[in-house]
Amino acid sequence: MCGIVGYVGSKQALEVVVDGLRRLEYRGYDSAGVAVLDGTGPGAALQVERKAGKLANLEKVLVERELRGTLGIGHTRWATHGPPTDANAHPHLDCAGAVAVVHNGTIENYEELVAGLEARGHERRSDTDTEVVSHLLEERYATGPTAGDLAASLRSVCRDLQGSFVLVVAHRDEPDLVVAARRNLPLVIGLGDGENFVGSDVTAFIAHTREARAVEQDQVVEVRRDGVVVTDLDGLVVEGSSYHVDWDTDAAEKGGYDFFMLKEIDEQPGAVRDTLGGRLTPEGLLHLDELSMSDEDVRGIEQVFIVACGSAYHSGLVGKYAIERWCRLPVQVEMASEFRYRDPVLGRTTLVIAVSQSGETADTLEAVRHARAQKAWVLAVTNTVGSTISRESDAALYTRGGPEVAVASTKAVMTQITAMYLVGLYLAQLRGTRDPDEVRAHLRDLQEIPELIAELLTRMDAVRELAHELKDEQRVLFLGRHVGYPLALEGALKLKELAYVSAEGFPAGEIKHGPIALVEQGTPVVVIAPRHALQAKLLNNVQEVRARGARTIVLATDGDESAAAYAEHVVRLPDTKSLLTPLLTLVPLQVLSAEIARARGLDVDQPRNLAKSVTVE
Ligand code: G6P
Repeated sequence: MCGIVGYVGSKQALEVVVDGLRRLEYRGYDSAGVAVLDGTGPGAALQVERKAGKLANLEKVLVERELRGTLGIGHTRWATHGPPTDANAHPHLDCAGAVAVVHNGTIENYEELVAGLEARGHERRSDTDTEVVSHLLEERYATGPTAGDLAASLRSVCRDLQGSFVLVVAHRDEPDLVVAARRNLPLVIGLGDGENFVGSDVTAFIAHTREARAVEQDQVVEVRRDGVVVTDLDGLVVEGSSYHVDWDTDAAEKGGYDFFMLKEIDEQPGAVRDTLGGRLTPEGLLHLDELSMSDEDVRGIEQVFIVACGSAYHSGLVGKYAIERWCRLPVQVEMASEFRYRDPVLGRTTLVIAVSQSGETADTLEAVRHARAQKAWVLAVTNTVGSTISRESDAALYTRGGPEVAVASTKAVMTQITAMYLVGLYLAQLRGTRDPDEVRAHLRDLQEIPELIAELLTRMDAVRELAHELKDEQRVLFLGRHVGYPLALEGALKLKELAYVSAEGFPAGEIKHGPIALVEQGTPVVVIAPRHALQAKLLNNVQEVRARGARTIVLATDGDESAAAYAEHVVRLPDTKSLLTPLLTLVPLQVLSAEIARARGLDVDQPRNLAKSVTVE
C-alpha cells in the first residue's frame, strides 16, 4: 500500500516522479504528493506540492505550479493514520522545511516518538505516523554523531522505529542525494546512466531503465546521480547484484483501452501461454526446476497448505481440487490472515504454497514466515520477481503474468490458477500418483487453453449487454459446485469490489441452508455450470432458486442444452476438461463486473477504499 518513487539525475524530476506515481497509483489513491529540489547547490528550496484524492488532483495543481529541479520524491497514499486530506498527504516536512519524507507502512511506536518530539519543541502538522520521521531526521542531521550526514541520520532514525516502512528522503542541503530505507515492505533500486531511481516496484522507473536491484531488510540506500550505495543499519556497505526486468514497457500502459482492467482481461491468452512456456520437457512432461525440492522431499510430502488473500485465495481453492485429485494429498486452503494466528500443525513433511500476485501482501508474508519457522517447505507462487515473499520462501514459481495495474486482479488470477495446475501435475508426476501419459494429456489440455480464452473473448458482447441490464441491481448471487465454487466466490468478489453491489458466492448445494432466503422475485443468480459430473445436481439447485423467482444467468458449455433450459440468460463457454473450466469461466465473470462498474459510472481500475497491494495487516 502506498506507492513511492525517488529520482536523481539530469531530467526534470517532476515529470519522472509523476510518471512513476501514475504507474504506482494502484497501490493507493487517497492522496498524492511530490517534493522537488532544484539541484543547483546547498540551500536550494525544497518545493512541495500535495493534494488529497487521486493523482489527477495533484496534476491539476501542478499545471499552475511547475516545480523545476532534477531531484525529486513522490508518494501516492492509501491512508492508515489520519484521513485522506491535503495536510495528511505526503511528503511530510520537518519544522524548518529542510527535509521531506515519503513513507509506505506503519510506524507502530509513533505516539511515543511524537510525545518526545513535542516535548523537545517540534510542532506536528498532520495526523500521520510518518511526520515523526521528518522531525527525527531534522534533529539527527543537525547535531550529534550523524550531523550533516543524511544517510547516517536515516540509519539512526530507523533503529528507533518499530513497524513496517519504506522511507524515501530528500534534504535541501543535499542536491545530489536521495536516501531510502526498507523494513518489511518492498523497495527496488533502478540503475540508470547518470541517473538513479528508487520505487515501490519496477514499474516506477521501467520507462527509464530495466536494470534493478532489490533492497533487503533493514538496509539504507544512498542514491546519487553517479551511483548507488547500499548499507545495513550499522553503515556497513552491502554488495548486491542487479537483475534485468524483461517486462515490455507497453505492458504498463493502457494501450488505447479505457481501463487497465479491460486490457488485462484481453491479455490473458498470452499470460497463460507465458506461464506454461518453457516448463515442458521434450517428452511432454513437466520440469519445474524452480521448486528446488529433491525428489525424495517431494515424495515425503504428507500434507499441503495453500495460503493467500483476496482473489489469490480463490486461485488456491482451485488448486486444492487439482492437487487432491491428481496427487492424493490432503490440501487445506486458508486465508493468510487466519492461518498465522491459528497455530496450524506444520512440519518437515508439510508443503505450504503461498499465492500472491504482488509477493508483498503482509498477511501472506507473515504466513510464510510462520510456516518456515515451523520447518515447513514453502513455495511462493507469485508474479513479482524479487518480491519479499519470493525471497523469503524456499522456492518461487513465477506466474509470468506481466504487470497488472488494475486493482481488481484478472490475468494474475488466471496465471495463478494455471500455476496451481502445474504444481499439481508436477507433484503427481514426481510422486507417481498419475502415470506419465495422463500427465501429458492434462498438459496438452492446458496448452489449448490460451486459444480457448482468445476465442471466448470474442464472445463478450453478450456479456456487456447483460451488464447493462444488470447495472441497477443491488444484490447478485453466484452459485457453483466443485471448481465452480471458488469461481462463484471470485465472481462475487469482483462485483463487490468494482461495482459496490452486494454480491455473495455460495456452493450451490449449500443454498438451502440459508442463502436461498435472499432470493426474491427478479434476484439475479449467476450459476457457474460448465459441463461437469455434478451438473445434474447443480441444475436442481438452479430450479430451486428459479422456483422462488430468481432471474438465472447460466454459464454453460457450448452445445449443452440441459443447462440452457433453466436460464434467463445463457453465457456460452468453449468445452474443456471439467477440472480446467475455471480458466474459462473466469473470463465472463471478469467482464460482467467490469462492465457493470463502467455502466454505473465508476472507476473500474481504482475502486473506492481499496489498494492492490495490501502491505498492512
Ligand atoms: C488485494 C487486491 C486483490 C488481491 C489481494 C491479494 O486485496 O485488491 O486483487 O487478490 O490483495 O494480493 P496478492 O498480491 O497477495 O495476490
